[in-house]
Amino acid sequence: MTSAEKYIKSKLDERRRSGLYRTLKPENSLVDFCSNDYLGFARSPILRQSIAAEVQKHPEGLNGSTGSRLLSGNITYAENLEKEIAAHHQYPAGLLFNSGYDANLGLLSSLPQRGDTIILDELIHASAIDGARLSYANRYSFRHNDMESLEAKLKQAKGNCYVVIESIYSMDGDTPPIAGILSLTKKYGAHLIVDEAHAVGLYPAGLISKLGLQNEVFAVIVTFGKALGCHGAIILGSNQLREYLINFSRSFIYTTAPSFHQLAAVKMAYWLLSNADREIISLKNNIDLFKNQISPNNTFTLINSDSAIQCIVLKSNDKARETANILQNAGLDVRAILSPTVPPGTERIRICLHAYNTTHDLTLLTDILTSL
Ligand SMILES: Cc1ncc(COP(=O)(O)O)c(C=O)c1O
Repeated sequence: MTSAEKYIKSKLDERRRSGLYRTLKPENSLVDFCSNDYLGFARSPILRQSIAAEVQKHPEGLNGSTGSRLLSGNITYAENLEKEIAAHHQYPAGLLFNSGYDANLGLLSSLPQRGDTIILDELIHASAIDGARLSYANRYSFRHNDMESLEAKLKQAKGNCYVVIESIYSMDGDTPPIAGILSLTKKYGAHLIVDEAHAVGLYPAGLISKLGLQNEVFAVIVTFGKALGCHGAIILGSNQLREYLINFSRSFIYTTAPSFHQLAAVKMAYWLLSNADREIISLKNNIDLFKNQISPNNTFTLINSDSAIQCIVLKSNDKARETANILQNAGLDVRAILSPTVPPGTERIRICLHAYNTTHDLTLLTDILTSL
């Protein structure tokens, strides 16, 4: 065995010993309480048909984009789509990225410079952390949703300062005090960046647009792989920010542009989102039903969330795993989220609710949980 092979084996052995070994699971036929397909778009026959019709309508669309946007991969369709999506969210401009991961990485690695400051909520998504790590700026995290902690970091900030939050947190499902955070960032001359990955869908144009804060939030990240049921992402902001990213964002510059099929899918998903009142109401009803039917007891606590992400904290990896197993054996696809993915003591099961979950399935879920 070479030294590299020895290293790989020892790390994998260590993972197995700690019970945190990750494996890819095949698809299953359990009831979906796990995916990010909040409105059912990924499985929508209407979306499938409209994408097929859109592709048919554009025989000039190539199978692959053939290159990066700055070389052979740019098409008018992509630029028009960026304008349409920006208009949907009421932002001046947008730039497409191949994924939300790429978007956060590309923004945070390129914009904050040496001598600048990035302040991240401690529960921010890994893609924002990785982007900040790639930057030469100073990096701080503040306690989750804690204004005092944020202000303490803002006081230490130097240079241009960027505060990064999510409008619905992916692991807790909760929403930060956005108005308060915004007034703090204004007080200290910082720029607020909001990742709306889990908010678009529950709110058709995201929470920042619902709150009418587009003029004050410096940049927004929207991902297409969750409620929109597709893949990819966009960064929304000023025209100047878009031009900057085209010039400096390495995860935009050095990658093959999305294919025409992918763009057509995103375009039609936005069309469907504009006509998804029924699905959004069903999702909201299911969130209400779940919250009304679940009563936390001595065994677990429920994290305060009005979103499609509901978390039951069981405080140990073993209990979280055991509970997920019980639910899976009852036919419900619920996954355990273990430490170190979440801080020790907050190990949980994470339940994703959808427009298409039935009352029967939701009741089965809450009955089992309540009887634990
Ligand atoms: C808050 C947040 N931001 C960004 C991402 C990354 O998006 P994508 O899956 O499109 O790479 C995710 C999804 O995993 C997320 O939950």
